[in-house]
Amino acid sequence: MSIYLDNAATTFPKPSQVTEAVERTLRENSANPGRGGHHMSLDAGRMVMECRESLARFFAITDASRIAFTANATEAINLGLFGALSPGDRVVTTSMEHNAVVRPLRALSDQGVNVVRVAADALGLVDPLAIREACVPGTRLVIMTHCSNVSGTLQAIEEVGPWCREQGILFMVDAAQSAGVFPIDVEEMAIDLLAVPGHKSLLGPTGTGFLYVRKGLDLKPLLYGGTGNFSQSAIQPTEMPERLESGTLNTIGLAGLKAGVEFLEKLGLDHVHAHEQELLRQLIEGLQEIDNVILYGPLGSARHGGALSFNVKNIDPSMLGFRLDREYGICCRVGLHCAPEAHGSIGTLPEGTVRLSPGYFNTADDINQTLAAIRTIVATEK
Ligand code: ALA
Repeated sequence: MSIYLDNAATTFPKPSQVTEAVERTLRENSANPGRGGHHMSLDAGRMVMECRESLARFFAITDASRIAFTANATEAINLGLFGALSPGDRVVTTSMEHNAVVRPLRALSDQGVNVVRVAADALGLVDPLAIREACVPGTRLVIMTHCSNVSGTLQAIEEVGPWCREQGILFMVDAAQSAGVFPIDVEEMAIDLLAVPGHKSLLGPTGTGFLYVRKGLDLKPLLYGGTGNFSQSAIQPTEMPERLESGTLNTIGLAGLKAGVEFLEKLGLDHVHAHEQELLRQLIEGLQEIDNVILYGPLGSARHGGALSFNVKNIDPSMLGFRLDREYGICCRVGLHCAPEAHGSIGTLPEGTVRLSPGYFNTADDINQTLAAIRTIVATEK
């Protein structure tokens, strides 16, 4: 038996409704949506539209056509950054970003975009005032992660977005770890660009995600090609979502994503969040009782959720993760989690940490077994 505590990488298991929707779509109708007038294509197109509408409801997006589907959050971030920025633009970001943000920004900086980084404190928190101060006149865009995939630190984006809107600065949020974990309202938070994975806490299959683009904001596409409309023209359509969605969509994955987000809506995000926070509390309290354990992040506060990182003095995190997996069947992620700058911020370079990320389907018993396994490993490695 496995105990899966790597939900920050991708959630597992998925609700049975998701598995059934994927299977049903593959078996009964995986025709090409928006690419034909026959009834199967129209049905597939309707399902994709319903998926868009469910997501729009979930994130308080008033116009579902402003959602462009992507393969994951990384593609959505690339689409937003390369679509909005040009050489000479100035961007403000933070030291808590995942490589999904760090690397496109590095590539853009090589093309002449000026990138400024605001440092987080040792808990991974970025002061919204420091972001405002970094936004000197001429700043085009602020991009920040909402919740860290390393320390689970939740940033105060609600104190940044509305201020950026007043200043005419675009505000982009990487919601890889917060979508489906914490409530997100693109209107209240004044988010212009929101990058979301479908396969993490929205409980859909891998290969799904989207970028929300605020009305009135036109992005350069990453991909050009067939959209199923305006076929006579060699020019990419200006209409959303077709402007940013070329080629056949992942219909099967989107059927699963629709089922995932509707599952969450039915249960209520509050209920899901309360369960995950309770497991996190249990983990934190249990780990605090084990000798030589060092925990990271704003533990137990309202600014902590999703992932929990820790180390044990004199034990290599990779060794601990390896033993948890091989001896106890416990799946976690160790090392740098594709976010070396975030590890630099919390002081865990170069080895990184052991990261445990419980999900909705974990139980108190999973956590008790994990704590017992860690206790035994720590005692035997001494
Ligand atoms: N970004 C994902 C993680 O943190 C894959 O594991």
